[in-house]
Amino acid sequence: MSVRPVFLFNSTQERAAVFAPAFAADLPEVDFVTDAAAVEADDVRYLLTWTIPQDLARYRNLEVVFSIGAGVDQFDTVGLSPRVALVRMVEDGIIRMMQEYVALAVLALHRDLPAYRAQQEAEVWRALPPRQAEERRVGFLGQGMLAQAAMERLKPFGFPLAGWSRSARSLEGVESFHGADGLGAFLARTDILVCLLPLTDETRGILDADLFARLPQGAALVHAGRGPQLDASALLAALDAKHLSAAMLDVTDPEPLPAGHPLWRHPQVIVTPHVASVTQAGTAARAVIDNIRRHRSGEPMIGLVDRARGY
Ligand code: NDP
Ligand code: OXD
Repeated sequence: MSVRPVFLFNSTQERAAVFAPAFAADLPEVDFVTDAAAVEADDVRYLLTWTIPQDLARYRNLEVVFSIGAGVDQFDTVGLSPRVALVRMVEDGIIRMMQEYVALAVLALHRDLPAYRAQQEAEVWRALPPRQAEERRVGFLGQGMLAQAAMERLKPFGFPLAGWSRSARSLEGVESFHGADGLGAFLARTDILVCLLPLTDETRGILDADLFARLPQGAALVHAGRGPQLDASALLAALDAKHLSAAMLDVTDPEPLPAGHPLWRHPQVIVTPHVASVTQAGTAARAVIDNIRRHRSGEPMIGLVDRARGY
């Protein structure tokens, strides 16, 4: 029986084609395997997957579950032993793509793209009053890895930046708020709200009528967190009442957004199909290999999930 540790890869063949040579070159002491049937279950120490497989209990010596994505809300961790570490994806590719998406969305809303799209459909050539970046306050729900990276990308444009998180944060050039007590003041100073929160019991449904009412008149929303954080009816009502001006949504509940859903055709809404950021195999393989090395030498892994907090 083999005593070499096995890394079981449960993702696409395209990604496996990138991960396999990276493991062979940089972590030869670990066997990289894509076919669960081809290994002794007891040899599996590491599992990379999007969801917890039903036969997880087979892997009695499992040490780490790696999420293929940055979010871990898709995991049903009930059957996952507390001694197994859960690690989310922290890698350069996913960060870069989110920086692009947030910059795209904030600039589109700042420069009135939804309104110009509606004018184009009506063949109207009319300039709307421009607003300078210095007068457009951007606020992030979440001040974690992705929000901080997106803030860095936005800094050169000159938007006044703020963020809100659970715990107090001190970020250069960012006005930081935290906790339930800080939310009202954060929302009151935010013209473009970007949601980059993980989905937990606390954040489910957070983008609701009450939150929208606390934003200034004419504010806009970028939602790239998770669909169940948004009350879509409340958003539509706030848009139709002209309290909110526009929204760019990358995540919906459910996904895909069902045919005929009012968000599809709302003139002030841009929908993208959960593509803001996607794990990039080359950089992800490097990040996972680095984490396994850390784990094997007793160092803390990057992206370790606090299972009590849920992110
Ligand atoms: P992090 O864990 O690095 O950051 C999460 C942030 O949210 C932290 O600042 C945290 O606060 C804050 N937060 C969590 N719960 C609360 C709460 N109850 N109240 C206030 N703040 C809270 O996550 P990432 O930045 O890596 O990712 C964020 C999310 O982005 C992912 O969980 C995923 O859902 C989504 N995502 C979406 C993608 C897409 O394509 N649309 C792609 C990748 C990720 P604190 O700092 O105090 O811990
Ligand atoms: C992720 C995602 O969590 O793609 O990585 O949403």
